[in-house]
Amino acid sequence: MIISTKEAVKKLLQGEVVALPTETVYGLGAIVTNENAIKKIFEIKNRPVINPLICHIHNVNLLQNYAYIEEYHYKFFKYWPGPLTILFRKKENISNIITANSEYCAFRIPDHPIFLKILKEVQYPVAAPSANPSGKISPVTPEMVLEYFNNRISVVDGGRCNIGLESTVIQVLEHNTIRILRPGKLTKEFFEKEGFTIIENNNSNNLNKSSVGLLSPGQLPRHYAPEVPLLLLDYNFIYDFKNTKDPYILLENIIKKYNKNSIIELNTYKNIGFLVYGNVPDFKNFINLSPNSDLEEIARNLFLKLKEMENVYNLIVAFEVKNKEIGIAINDRLHRASRWKIKKN
Ligand code: TXA
Ligand code: MG
Repeated sequence: MIISTKEAVKKLLQGEVVALPTETVYGLGAIVTNENAIKKIFEIKNRPVINPLICHIHNVNLLQNYAYIEEYHYKFFKYWPGPLTILFRKKENISNIITANSEYCAFRIPDHPIFLKILKEVQYPVAAPSANPSGKISPVTPEMVLEYFNNRISVVDGGRCNIGLESTVIQVLEHNTIRILRPGKLTKEFFEKEGFTIIENNNSNNLNKSSVGLLSPGQLPRHYAPEVPLLLLDYNFIYDFKNTKDPYILLENIIKKYNKNSIIELNTYKNIGFLVYGNVPDFKNFINLSPNSDLEEIARNLFLKLKEMENVYNLIVAFEVKNKEIGIAINDRLHRASRWKIKKN
């Protein structure tokens, strides 16, 4: 059900769970002071209790009541409101359920006028993970949220999410050093240019590792999975598909050549969709994320198109993008969504 901003404020204060728009993805929110409401979020999403929630606030003054702000945090506040989540040592009034028993709690000020207005009115932080059942693609439209939960969740319609990928999650270690726990629009490159030192986080760089690491428990190797299998081809393959007359034969040859012991039985998939970008032919089963290969446009369209494709195709073939800027976050999500990967070299 779509509800108004006013109704959302009322429901939140009554301890209900409401889906809210942000600039990254839609969130499933509850006020942090109501433990039952927080528990409901985990139930509705079927989320493992070891995966902590991000708390949303509308200003730093409010944050002071819930977390210990250190001097070295202040230089990061200039990126708020925005797609940046920062870990802080939590105060007593943040429930251990929210943080999955960690002494750290994640906070961000979202850059969406509707959510900010709601936060201002409720005057409590709103804990909100992405508004999808655990393990599914994050929603970037109100319709995606309604579809996921069969209309049983109230959603405030804030339109399409402008960024389309979840926020960057960081931990500030000391004055100029940070650790990136989840890549997002603000990347390693970006923070380096801003003069910060980045400590590598093993989680996000080694996606095949099964050791998930305790730092950011949400960063499971497969986290953003579409309903149908996804085959991820490395960046170099997109050029081959620009000139092809028959993408199916090309794919068959690629699998033969580069994936000799493959368990991919292509002929069992009757309906294959290609998630492409750039100047590629206009085949019916080519879903183009951005004809200009614009990384921000690819990010904005990624989850929406993946969701649409899983309703139509029984195999999705996707391509890595250039591993720079928001492309790093796009590749991270593609890797997590993939069942198989093929590398050219
Ligand atoms: O853009 C976003 O961040 C969206 C919107 C709704 O704000 N939210 C979102 O939440 O993506 P969620 O729950 O889907 O992902 C939260 C991520 C997970 O990887 C989780 O492990 C990490 O943040 N996280 C949250 N609290 C943490 C904590 N206390 N310590 C370490 N990692 C934490
Ligand atoms: Mg999520």
